This record gives sequence, C-alpha cells and structure tokens, in this order.
Amino acid sequence: MLKKYISDRTPKNIYIILRINLVLIFFSKKPQHAIVHDAVEFSKQFDKSKLINAVLRNILRDQENLKLEKNLPDNFQKVLDKIFSSSKIREYLYQTFFTKPTDYQISLNNHKEAIYEKRVLPFKSKLLKNCFVQDIGNYEVIHTTHQFFQSKKILDVCSAPGGKSILLHSLGYEVDCIDKSNSQIIKFKQNLKRLGLNIKIKKKDFLKLTKNQNISSILLDAPCSALGTFRRNPDVASKINQSKLKRNQKIQIQMLDKAINILDENGIIVYIVCSFHPFETINVIDKIAQKHKNIRTLSLDSDKMIKRQNGYFINPLKFKDLGGSDIFFVSVLKKTK
Ligand SMILES: C[S@@+](CC[C@H](N)C(=O)[O-])C[C@H]1O[C@@H](n2cnc3c(N)ncnc32)[C@H](O)[C@@H]1O
Repeated sequence: MLKKYISDRTPKNIYIILRINLVLIFFSKKPQHAIVHDAVEFSKQFDKSKLINAVLRNILRDQENLKLEKNLPDNFQKVLDKIFSSSKIREYLYQTFFTKPTDYQISLNNHKEAIYEKRVLPFKSKLLKNCFVQDIGNYEVIHTTHQFFQSKKILDVCSAPGGKSILLHSLGYEVDCIDKSNSQIIKFKQNLKRLGLNIKIKKKDFLKLTKNQNISSILLDAPCSALGTFRRNPDVASKINQSKLKRNQKIQIQMLDKAINILDENGIIVYIVCSFHPFETINVIDKIAQKHKNIRTLSLDSDKMIKRQNGYFINPLKFKDLGGSDIFFVSVLKKTK
C-alpha cells in the first residue's frame, strides 16, 4: 500500500515509522488525527516530519478506496491448517484474524448479567466489582477440567498474574500458588487486593521446588508462545520461530517431568497452554507419555473442545456468537503405579 505514496529512496527508518503508523490507523482505536500528530512529532528528530505528514494525510484521504491486504502469515496458516481439520473452523479463523475478540470479565459468583455459565460477562467500559479479566477460553479450560483434581487443594505452579488461581478459588479450591516472576507476582497481588481475596502466592522457581508435603493436584499453565491469542495480539502470528518454539517445548517438558516426579500416585496434572502449535501441545504430551509409562491422559466431556490424540483444543466456533475466544490446549494427566 505504501509503495504508491513513497519513492524507492525513502530511508528505511522513515519507511518503518510509516508502517507502524499505518497499523495504528487501521487497527487501533486511537483517533487518526492523534496518530498523525504523534508520528509527525516523533519524526522531527529525523528531519522528515513533512514527508511523514504528507504521506499519512494522503493515505487518510484515500482510505475509503484502499484495500487492505489481509494475508495471514504463511507459517501461521500452515500450523492452523494442520490443527484445525474442519474447513468451517479454518474459514472462521481466517475471516476473523483481523477482528479483535470481545474482552471478557469473570464474576467470582453467579451474575445476573452473565452471558455464559452464569459467570462470564463482556468487559465493556469498566471492570465490575467482584470481577476479574479473563478470556472465555481461559474460563472454559478450567471449568471443564477442575472436577478431575484429586482434592480441594491444588498446587498452581505457574500461577501469576492469577487468573486461573482466582477462578479455582472462587470454585471452592484451596490454591497454593508459586511463580518465578516478580513483576507478574506484583500484578497477582494487585488483583487479590482489589478483589479482597486471600490466596497464598510465593516467588519460587518450580523447576527447583522440593517436595515437602503430599501433592495430589497440580495445575501447570505453562509459559508458551501465546499463539492462541493471535486475534488479540496479531504480532504473535508473524513471529512464529521454530527455535523459540523448541526452547518453549524443552521448558514445558522439564516442567511436566518435575510435576510428575513430585505428584502422588493417582494424582492429576492439568497441563494448559494458550497455543495451538503442535510443538507446545500434542508433541509435548507425546514425548511425556513415551518417557513416563505411569502417565495416561484422561478424556474430557465437552462440546466446546476439539479432541486430539492426547488433549483438547478450544473450538473457537463454539464461542463465535458470544464474541470469540482465544485458543487453548488442555490435557489432563493421571499418574498411575
Ligand atoms: C501462562 S503464564 C501463567 C498465567 C496464569 N496461570 C494465569 O492464569 O493468570 C506462565 C507463568 O509461568 C511463570 N513461569 C515461567 N517459568 C517458571 C518457573 N520455572 N517457575 C515458576 N513460574 C514460572 C511465568 O512467570 C508466568 O507468570
């Protein structure tokens, strides 16, 4: 699109500023005049503010007639096609790639304005009392799996900023939380303070945790690429990187190894990632199942998820009418003898 408005001699930094501002113009909620103003101010340091001003204003004038090339990044589409065999789901995902899904909030108790399961509400302009921000897919994975936990006491090993722990607490569980990130723990504590909740959260590296009590239920909401949040964060789709994904997989496997080692016999691990990349989902569980013969995956009873050989993906079509959902993968693992 830009080629029509600039010459081949336009310096690279100016080209990048223009691209960033075009994304803001077409995809952000910031007023267009403010975007142009800020871009012009920013580019004064490069002595090119007149050029930036002219190009952006010309594009704004022409915007009615401009066609956005809504192309999915190739690698992203390949992965999506591999996981979602249903053409209906694929079409829906292609069409909504550039549409931000509804923001949701979850109520600690049943709420009369809820649009789903008496707890999920749209987040319009304000966060309601006794509510916290969470995607509907996030709600769904916990809602569908929590009854598998072996006791009312759960160890949440990657807990901050606390969305899932708070939900589990509201469902009557005693959740022991750890996380290794200071900044995320601060956010968690702010959430707890606002909601008036008392949940224990300790700064610890899960991979260094020593077992000093019985552990029958572990929630492992593992760090991942966040590819499943692509509608909220379209940049994740263009940043798919095999070596980063392999590093993630290594950590995810180390965490599952650790969880299996400290778990009591007959104990349960709920493994969750907000990704649909095979490296971080089905391949992780395949490798774990090959390595630990005392682990089996359990079947879920959900019409909101798509079953794969060793876990489930959120079916985004099921949340279409509510405003869309991020895509999560969940696998429930049981440790046997
Ligand atoms: C996907 S986020 C968890 C989100 C959280 N469960 C929620 O629902 O709000 C992953 C978290 O894992 C934490 N983490 C990564 N490596 C860790 C480790 N070795 N030990 C403990 N926490 C870790 C990160 O700091 C991050 O907060």
